[in-house]
Amino acid sequence: MKAWRVVRHGKPSEALELLDVPEPEPGPGQIRVRTSATACNYNEVDGCYGRYKTIDPPLPYTLGMEVVGVVEAAGPDLDEWVGRRVAATATGATGAHAEVVVGDVAMAFESPASLDDSQAAAFFFPFHVAHLSIFDRGHLSEGETLLVHSGAGGVGSAAVQLGVACGARVIATCGSPEKVEFCRKLGADAAIDYRREDFAERVLEVTDGRGVDVVCDLVGGEVTRKTFRCIAFGGRHMMTGFSGGIEAEDEALIPRPVIFGNFSLGGVLMAYAPDASLRAGSGINVTPRSVGERIQAHLVELLEAGKIRPVVGREAAHTELPGELERMEQRTTMGRTILSW
Ligand SMILES: NC(=O)c1ccc[n+]([C@@H]2O[C@H](COP(=O)([O-])OP(=O)(O)OC[C@H]3O[C@@H](n4cnc5c(N)ncnc54)[C@H](OP(=O)(O)O)[C@@H]3O)[C@@H](O)[C@H]2O)c1
Repeated sequence: MKAWRVVRHGKPSEALELLDVPEPEPGPGQIRVRTSATACNYNEVDGCYGRYKTIDPPLPYTLGMEVVGVVEAAGPDLDEWVGRRVAATATGATGAHAEVVVGDVAMAFESPASLDDSQAAAFFFPFHVAHLSIFDRGHLSEGETLLVHSGAGGVGSAAVQLGVACGARVIATCGSPEKVEFCRKLGADAAIDYRREDFAERVLEVTDGRGVDVVCDLVGGEVTRKTFRCIAFGGRHMMTGFSGGIEAEDEALIPRPVIFGNFSLGGVLMAYAPDASLRAGSGINVTPRSVGERIQAHLVELLEAGKIRPVVGREAAHTELPGELERMEQRTTMGRTILSW
């Protein structure tokens, strides 16, 4: 089968080659999907450079986290999955940009019939990450104020919509006038181009000096530190992504601004595992599958009520993968970029 392999580290057009590799076989707890669509995820840009330490397999390996397609084979006792169209994460969060993908069933969800393959690919990952961040970890409620950094992106555009859907006041930051317009169309009450103005000042201005209750932070680094100035008493700052530089994931954060700010700093990792297999101790508290199922049910309900919609920003053939990842890196994309297979 054809698969996009990272053969050396560097920018996507240098790192990636489309090669023939054997088709993977599903093991216990796994399904095998015949790919219809894959999505570009910012972590894959970091993966090409070899700077994403969470997922850093030896070279060569097949890039790709997210896949949509029909299940054509499954491990023992999982026959009921065969024939279903799912959105899934490839096992180990690598291997999705390929004709056939193996994923853990704990990270697979049947795609709503109302969505085509591209929409289904834009629905799964961004909305699950955003839901975990702002509701399950950030406990956002109606009437509160949500700040979404990088609100025009894949996960960001989902977070903005979920905030609006729950009746929160939503402020989005983003990196161009076009994106400001896009965030407003998604329903954000205020959108700030943080490459042109001091977003913390503007957030304080629009909240009458009070600050925000919940932050969905997808950028990290300097943007995180600056945000500490505009969080309300009792606020929840959810560190969800590091598109401003993945090395910030390993930076020591100075506790003083957190202590003096009287807010909570939390982390978010979207990875589901069967409830029975969960154990603390490794430093990775994977989210129970039952939480993922509850989130999926809530998302489908919001989708069917017309309160949220997947944002397919760009569609391209999978042969365009390197160029599409470079567009993400250049900060020009909005919503999810989806590749057809
Ligand atoms: N916690 C989890 O489980 C989880 C799961 C999946 C993804 N994520 C994270 O969520 C974040 C968003 O992912 P995504 O796939 O939806 O990507 P994305 O937001 O669609 O694309 C990346 C965006 O990041 C922004 N950005 C800010 N600073 C940047 C910089 N220095 N260089 C390049 N881009 C910069 C740009 O938007 P602006 O110019 O508008 O700022 C860019 O368009 C990523 O950090 C990803 O790692 C987390």
